[in-house]
Amino acid sequence: MDSSSFIINTMCVVKRFGTNFALNGLDLKVPKGISGFVGRNGAGKTTTISVLLGLLKADSGEANFFGLDCWRDSYAIKRRLGVMHEINAYPGSFTGSHFLEHVVRIYELSQSQQRIKNALKDVGLADAGDRPVGTYSAGMLKRLGLAQALIGEPEFVILDEPTANIDPLGRITMLNNIKELHKEKAISFLISTHILSDLEKVCTWLSIVDSGKIIDQGNIKDLAERYSANTYKVNVSSPGLFLEKIHNSEGVEKAWIEDGNIYCKVKNVNVFYNEIPKITTELKLQLKGLQQMHCTIEEIYKATAGANIYEN
Ligand SMILES: Nc1ncnc2c1ncn2[C@@H]1O[C@H](COP(=O)(O)OP(=O)(O)OP(=O)(O)O)[C@@H](O)[C@H]1O
Ligand SMILES: [Mg+2]
Repeated sequence: MDSSSFIINTMCVVKRFGTNFALNGLDLKVPKGISGFVGRNGAGKTTTISVLLGLLKADSGEANFFGLDCWRDSYAIKRRLGVMHEINAYPGSFTGSHFLEHVVRIYELSQSQQRIKNALKDVGLADAGDRPVGTYSAGMLKRLGLAQALIGEPEFVILDEPTANIDPLGRITMLNNIKELHKEKAISFLISTHILSDLEKVCTWLSIVDSGKIIDQGNIKDLAERYSANTYKVNVSSPGLFLEKIHNSEGVEKAWIEDGNIYCKVKNVNVFYNEIPKITTELKLQLKGLQQMHCTIEEIYKATAGANIYEN
């Protein structure tokens, strides 16, 4: 994809807090559509979002949103953008509508009553607008956050952890909401989350960040194909013993164990295939199964940034 076709395009962005590099050469590319932004705790997701919003100035590199500079043109960018922050505090005595009235006033938006009505309806809170926010469930509070993000009729919305702390049903409601908003209003989304299975349901693009760098990104179908092609699941007696050997193999890039199975990201299939019988014979192990993976987002993530991995 040509880099001018990305809505978000950062090049080698560095952001330091003291000696800690929160972003260390970040090349984030996000197209139109619904995209996932994933990475472990402290990987740099919230810092990235703050740079994109012009809340933090990058130490070096370039960050563009809609082709505009995130720091210099942040006012123009924000007028086309909605944001739901990771942590939101709402005044509990305000009703949902009352809270949104304040938001509309702060943003100096016109047609306030119609906007508020539309935003509440868009997030399924039409009947709860007159209730004090203090009586809302965690899921309703998240949806109020989404209503706030939608109030300026943005073309792009950033959601930092939109489904954290909400129950499975609430999560499905939120995800369906996001899908519908994309379908009906052509709004694009960037969803930062730890809940990978949620992304599977809505996203077409995935960017994976680790230690302030993008370690892989692309169309989810392409990523899944690429990782499926070189990720194998091995079912063997004594997986721990097998893992100790296979992770040293020249043919294997990474190997990890999960639910009693070994997963290998393979860089040379022939070497990998030769290695397996050697190890099982040497250690007198029984090979019960060997299969190429059909990768889910979770497996792509594990093959890139996952924990408990032996790397070569
Ligand atoms: N204001 C700050 N001052 C100092 N260090 C910070 C600050 N904000 C973030 N960091 C550090 O920068 C790194 C990236 O943090 P960031 O909050 O961007 O991660 P994250 O991916 O959003 O994590 P999480 O999943 O826990 O929300 C971490 O090491 C964090 O401790
Ligand atoms: Mg964060």
